[in-house]
Amino acid sequence: MTRSLYLLLTAGLALGALPQARADDQFAQATRLYNTYCVQCHGVNRDGNGVNSRDMPVKPRDHTDTKAMGDTPDETLLKAIKGGGLAVGKSILMPKWEGVLTDDEMKDMVGYLRFVSKTSK
Ligand code: HEC
Repeated sequence: MTRSLYLLLTAGLALGALPQARADDQFAQATRLYNTYCVQCHGVNRDGNGVNSRDMPVKPRDHTDTKAMGDTPDETLLKAIKGGGLAVGKSILMPKWEGVLTDDEMKDMVGYLRFVSKTSK
């Protein structure tokens, strides 16, 4: 009896902790990739203020900008990541990542950007 109560409690605690653990797991890979490939322009705070941005004539997109990110559909984000700025009629200063990131990694990245910008589309 005591034992099953204990098990029940443990299960309850584990379930309660799950959503947070899931969010971390889900974006662990994308976070790592972002910190490797995107951070120098888009910034450690994901707000477009990376170390490179100071000298750039076109400012990298602020990925925390809920309004602007919310107005941009998933396909456009994916296209921009895959083919670079030029693929979506934007600056060539946004590099293309096709060949560096896999299709799955780029799709995950879009999900991660939705998480960062608190948007969905
Ligand atoms: C060399 C600097 C640089 C790097 C590295 C970089 N970006 Fe960008 N990015 C830019 C610039 C500059 C823009 C803004 C282009 C414009 O507004 O014309 C941009 C824009 C974007 C946009 C917005 C596209 C749109 O249609 O609004 C997305 C999404 C994006 N970057 C994702 C990424 C991701 C993901 C990575 C890493 C895999 C990355 N960027 C790496 C410079 C960079």
